[in-house]
Amino acid sequence: RITRHYKFDIQMRNVTRLCHTRNILTVNGQFPGPKIIAREGDRVVVKVVNHVANNVTLHWHGVRQLRSGWADGPAYVTQCPIQTGQSFVYNFTIVGQRGTLFWHAHISWLRSTLYGPIVILPKRGVPYPFAKPYKSVPIIFGEWFNVDPEAIITQALQTGAGPNVSDAFTINGLPGPLYNCSAKDTFRLSVEPGKTYLLRLINAALNDELFFSIANHTLTIVDVDAIYVKPFDTDILLITPGQTTNVLLKTKPHYPNATFFMSARPYATGRGAFDNTTTIGILEYQKPNSSHPSNAIGIKDLPLFRPSLPGFNDTTFAANYTRRLRSLANAKFPANVPQTVDRRFFFTVGLGTQPCPNNQTCQGPNGTKFSASINNVSYVQPTTALLQAHFFGQSNGVYSTNFPTKPPFPFNYTGTPPNNTMVSNGTKVVVLPFNTTVELVLQDTSIQGAESHPLHLHGYNFFVIGQGFGNYNPNKDPSNFNLIDPVERNTVGVPAGGWVAIRFQADNPGVWFMHCHLEVHTSWGLKMAWVVLDGKLPNQKLPPPPSDLPQC
Ligand code: C2O
Repeated sequence: RITRHYKFDIQMRNVTRLCHTRNILTVNGQFPGPKIIAREGDRVVVKVVNHVANNVTLHWHGVRQLRSGWADGPAYVTQCPIQTGQSFVYNFTIVGQRGTLFWHAHISWLRSTLYGPIVILPKRGVPYPFAKPYKSVPIIFGEWFNVDPEAIITQALQTGAGPNVSDAFTINGLPGPLYNCSAKDTFRLSVEPGKTYLLRLINAALNDELFFSIANHTLTIVDVDAIYVKPFDTDILLITPGQTTNVLLKTKPHYPNATFFMSARPYATGRGAFDNTTTIGILEYQKPNSSHPSNAIGIKDLPLFRPSLPGFNDTTFAANYTRRLRSLANAKFPANVPQTVDRRFFFTVGLGTQPCPNNQTCQGPNGTKFSASINNVSYVQPTTALLQAHFFGQSNGVYSTNFPTKPPFPFNYTGTPPNNTMVSNGTKVVVLPFNTTVELVLQDTSIQGAESHPLHLHGYNFFVIGQGFGNYNPNKDPSNFNLIDPVERNTVGVPAGGWVAIRFQADNPGVWFMHCHLEVHTSWGLKMAWVVLDGKLPNQKLPPPPSDLPQC
């Protein structure tokens, strides 16, 4: 058990993609940002210094933050932002997780350029539950915007319209050869024959779920969201923003006379406008002592070795793929699924509308402003951090504890939407006593079209015990719940036109954000927070904040 120290200087740097140069926020001048490596059980200490004009916070996405909620990072939830010239030390220990996670900025849309991998190795001397990989390679998906995403979301929120989509998807920051002016910006993965590589896939894109595949190669899924799963083979996988997936790639036994493409493009439901372009990387078998890959093929030969991906709205593929994910659930890696439930919640997630402010012309449906909500509550960001308000007993005027446990007016969620789609605004939380076992059903609504929502919970992993299409039926659906080996993760896609059921045990005191990881939906209010109270024992309490915690 050791402590790993990192220094993250937030600084501007010029980066050019698609022949557009932008001055972007980076960590230490790197884009994508630096990798954090730790073993399970290690302490990670990251000193973040803000040298830019923007307020910044960083979030260690998926790290459980057991009794270290001050280090979680979402702005105005666990902390006030790190202002220009200030610094903050994030200090946390990695407990019970091994695989891949990632870090990203957690304020406005700054995560569009501020993100990087977190690699968690098993404890020293503890083997993987699969053949030891020869090498491991992070593959992080992102989105490149030719104009500043801060300007895009600011304008969208002012006009009530949907924001412009990105200009390219990227693999490790590189869009690849299918975009204009981009052939040289292609990620190349050099491999040797007859080896097993561990690819650490991370979807850090702002607004798009992605299908991914490598031509002529099968992938073995072994770990999602830093928890091992029962291994299974697939040619294509789906990864939502906020999810990570470790896959084994077995290279061909001999040098093949070809180069293979890996590609990713969106799984998109519901929205009118999205970017259906494809990002491509190259898998090349590199002969020793040769700078030339084996017979690299040109773009014109591309159809031969380009993987085929499902159609952009292939919800059947999405459902079948996610159903295959199961926890290992063996003696070494048990699945501690709560078998009993203290509190049940039913949350509708989806879009909605807001009245257009008087002096504006709004471009949302029927002249309204686009909005999004959970149980019809569209979250309003407070001007101080929820966790500070909670910890110091100053929640009055910051948030209220009456977040609805079910929707205020039931309707046919997957049928014709109600006439009135106006949401209500508020900063509302659910309060849970320590160790409460929670069952939460997340139901997509078809208001403005059925749409898949990758819901992310901070501070916890949860078990995905059921999923289905249509309206959730509390009298029938629970009999099909999997309480044996459900997948355990931190981000789950609520199916377009369907529902998903999760369980978790509230054993981590603090204030924990839950939101759609499509950034546009977060901006529109599809978010809420859980306040988990301290337990009685000393090791069940959240310690006081670090002395350098930023103030608002
Ligand atoms: Cu990856 Cu609240 O975020």
